[in-house]
Amino acid sequence: MTTFLDNARLYLGVLKRVGRTMTLGLFGSNNRQELLALYNIYETKTNGKESTPVDPFIIPKTDIFELLGNDSAVYEGVYECGFGHTTEFELKVISNLVKKLNPNRVFEIGTFQGRTTLNIALNCHPDAIITTLDLPSSELDSTKMEIEEGEIRYVTKDISGERFIGHPIAYKIKQVFGDSATFPFEEYTNSIDLAFIDGSHAYDYVLNDSEKVFNIMRPGGLIMWHDYTNWPGVWSALNKLYQSDIRYVNIKHIGGTSIAMLKV
Ligand SMILES: C[S@@+](CC[C@H](N)C(=O)[O-])C[C@H]1O[C@@H](n2cnc3c(N)ncnc32)[C@H](O)[C@@H]1O
Repeated sequence: MTTFLDNARLYLGVLKRVGRTMTLGLFGSNNRQELLALYNIYETKTNGKESTPVDPFIIPKTDIFELLGNDSAVYEGVYECGFGHTTEFELKVISNLVKKLNPNRVFEIGTFQGRTTLNIALNCHPDAIITTLDLPSSELDSTKMEIEEGEIRYVTKDISGERFIGHPIAYKIKQVFGDSATFPFEEYTNSIDLAFIDGSHAYDYVLNDSEKVFNIMRPGGLIMWHDYTNWPGVWSALNKLYQSDIRYVNIKHIGGTSIAMLKV
């Protein structure tokens, strides 16, 4: 009964809102912005097409790094983000950690457009090598384990790493392709200073990627996982590791981000 009443209230509320927005509301710019934002969500959901986001927030931005005056990193494309990317703040957190740790060998699972790869490259050692692994679109249907329905859109793309391809810093980046469940990680054993796990968000993949990455880390290296708070597959896999695997006892969730990290 409560659910029925709640639903009725919800539908009536939405009806009232839509009625106003589509009539008198059309004269107000805030209503038009809202409609455009809704249209963008619709486009993204139905066509998988990412339209230019409508950003009504015109007040200049700041963040804790700027306020405390300890932002030592450099960035590119930090504000050009949307679905499938790290947030602005997350990218700043990652870039500052990279700057501080100054890693020589970095491994990323899940390149996508290469926005995080690029910013890692901009902030690490001049001789560093960032290896970034991506599943090619052509292998979407032949992965060893099942990926999530909602991440197919990140796999099916014409270019992987478009943010760094042709960039002067791209000499630090090595692109490799394949499925993280079958990729030959052995050649990286015991060599990686910093890893960023952001490939498939399916439970089995997060377990697979965590184990594979654990084995390529050098002692004292840092593993970061993206999307701990965003995808059930990520949080349940990391929770399981935290609760049942002694190697993960010191894993931490970085507050204000969806990043989990572990010093191995
Ligand atoms: C959310 S995006 C990564 C975003 C990127 N790390 C960033 O910060 O901008 C996920 C990426 O993981 C890749 N991926 C999905 N499943 C994979 C798998 N089994 N092996 C390797 N890469 C995978 C997708 O092709 C996609 O490019």
